[in-house]
Amino acid sequence: MAEDAILGYLATHEEIPDSGQFASQHGLHHNDVVNVIKSLHGFRYIDAQDIKRESWVLTDEGKKYAAEGSPEVQLFLAIPSEGSIAKDELQKKLDPSLFKIGCSQAGKNKWVDMGKQVSRKVQHVEDKVKDLLIRIQDGQTLGKEDINSLRARKLIVAQTWKGYSVSKGPNYAPKRKKVATDLTRENLQRGDWKELEFKEYNFNAKGPPAEAGHLHPLLKVKQQLKNIFLQMGFEEMPTNNFVESSFWNFDALFQPQQHPARDSHDTFFLEAPSTTRELPEDYVQLVKRVHESGGYGSRGYMYDWKREEANKNLLRTHTTAVSTRMLYTLAKQPFAPKRYFSIDRVFRNESVDRTHLAEFHQIEGLVCDRGLTLGDLIGVLNDFFSRLGMSKLRFKPAYNPYTEPSMEIFSYHEGLKKWVEIGNSGMFRPEMLLPMGFPEDVRVIAWGLSLERPTMILYGIDNIRDLFGHKVDLSLIKRNPICRLGIN
Ligand code: PHE
Repeated sequence: MAEDAILGYLATHEEIPDSGQFASQHGLHHNDVVNVIKSLHGFRYIDAQDIKRESWVLTDEGKKYAAEGSPEVQLFLAIPSEGSIAKDELQKKLDPSLFKIGCSQAGKNKWVDMGKQVSRKVQHVEDKVKDLLIRIQDGQTLGKEDINSLRARKLIVAQTWKGYSVSKGPNYAPKRKKVATDLTRENLQRGDWKELEFKEYNFNAKGPPAEAGHLHPLLKVKQQLKNIFLQMGFEEMPTNNFVESSFWNFDALFQPQQHPARDSHDTFFLEAPSTTRELPEDYVQLVKRVHESGGYGSRGYMYDWKREEANKNLLRTHTTAVSTRMLYTLAKQPFAPKRYFSIDRVFRNESVDRTHLAEFHQIEGLVCDRGLTLGDLIGVLNDFFSRLGMSKLRFKPAYNPYTEPSMEIFSYHEGLKKWVEIGNSGMFRPEMLLPMGFPEDVRVIAWGLSLERPTMILYGIDNIRDLFGHKVDLSLIKRNPICRLGIN
């Protein structure tokens, strides 16, 4: 409506000098007129020049008087036209503030005689204040003196009014042309594309946000840990098998077949295929012997080692199974020192709670060299964990079937103000290394920790189900920041 009015008016007139007047002459809201002006200006149908005017608007008090009359007139009308009224009585008839203002204004105007008794001095008064206020309401302009007196009484306040003067622009037309935004199949078929006017490209417009993949926090932390291991000269072990035989997961690690971890309460065994297809037979014999009767200075466990037990397939319970395979391969070659690491998934039949799932990721590192000592292990651990920002470490004697000595690793948590367990470590037993064929003076120091624990701390997640599994909020994956481990 406003658009037709503006374009139509300009067809026969040079300009619209004032959008405000134009709006009221055409019975339009000025806001609508302004919006149309902006839009038409954008397409250069019109040229528009800003107009700014100080205008006056009524205050709440001003609006009240415009409707009900000024206090002085209300007071005047409350006085009888003949005789007088007691001041107290007059006061009762009027609102207190109205009475006060009315008295002073009517007094100034010399309309009334004020004493104990109040009487009219003139027969007739005009409500000039009310009239002026109404004129302002109607958008009329008043003289300086009137404005000043209303402003002094705080009945009006200044307001900047913004509008436009408008004339034809370079693309002026009495009606806006619909421009096409797309070239459609129908346009081509009908052939009307020749007549169509197309909307210009807006090369400054923002495109839709590009959808892209996002890395899970575990992957980010994993990558940083990888970098730390690589900086320390470690090689990554191939961990691409979740299914493992009991032999490589337990037996080769000198973990006895009666060990509670080998129970289905702790370990997921496979139904199909339930057993492994092949194992290195001569090595199996050596492992059997070390379990049953020891050797290499050990008495062994002195029980009947069963091949069927070793054949059982399971979901690996630790990545140490991979380390064991790697060490076995390494022992077959002429000896060379090695540093290996892995970060991958392991599975345990655990009851699930805020901090435990039946699967998690293990970070594992090992160093294999002649004559290594527990001091070397402590040194490597200090180096590794200080790169993760944990430089205060403590060690506590522990037990693993495959390491001796074994140490739990604790770090001082500045936030929690206490020592928290962060990993497990040890030196692999001779009962594990010597059947593989390593020279006698070769030692392997190793440690393991979970990837979830540091990730939850770094990303402030206190329920593991918010980090991993079907309850994870996808927007967390989109928004989570980079991992700065090992960067600072
Ligand atoms: N395999 C151990 C675990 O699952 C970690 C570990 C690795 C301990 C290497 C000692 C040496 O907790």
